[in-house]
Amino acid sequence: MVNPKVKLELLFTENEILQKVEDVAEEIDLFFKNEPIVVIGVMKGALFFMADLLRSLKTETIYDFIQVKTYAGTSSTGNVTVVKEPNCDCKGKNVLIVEDILDTGVTISFLKEYFEKKGAKKVYICSLLNKQKKRIVNINADFTGFDIEDYFVVGYGLDFDEKFRALNDIFVVKQC
Ligand code: IMP
Ligand code: MG
Repeated sequence: MVNPKVKLELLFTENEILQKVEDVAEEIDLFFKNEPIVVIGVMKGALFFMADLLRSLKTETIYDFIQVKTYAGTSSTGNVTVVKEPNCDCKGKNVLIVEDILDTGVTISFLKEYFEKKGAKKVYICSLLNKQKKRIVNINADFTGFDIEDYFVVGYGLDFDEKFRALNDIFVVKQC
């Protein structure tokens, strides 16, 4: 269908999201204590979550970005390509990958392996949203914001055909 009309239904308000980001940051601070971490944002979806999370963390961080493209399919790691490589050296360091949403798990399992191969000491995953029911790869985030049903969501970085990323709240997309 070309340019389908969609209706957006509010799922999480900006305030609920920001409160959750603070809770997740506190959890991460408690976990890493005073150990520094390399935070890697997965573009483009994690942009706003990453920016808010970094500013809430007390843990010492350096950060960079990676951009990947995931093709539909069922292979655990074979359908992901890196569009933009990060520049940072993560050898021997704790890496925290920051994602907008964990769906099938294909993207994040590829990324975990990618940073392990680059020599990270240990790779951790932080995802704002989690759709547990859609998982096809046995992987979970170490730090999660909200668990959601199998909705398609937009806003706060998440897109539908590149649209709606800059909305402050998160919405469920309903086709009409
Ligand atoms: P996975 O590899 O299936 O876990 O897919 C993760 C990626 O799919 C996310 O980083 C998003 O870019 C995209 N994605 C999955 N579900 C949604 C959604 O509900 N809204 C927007 N993007 C989504
Ligand atoms: Mg994404």
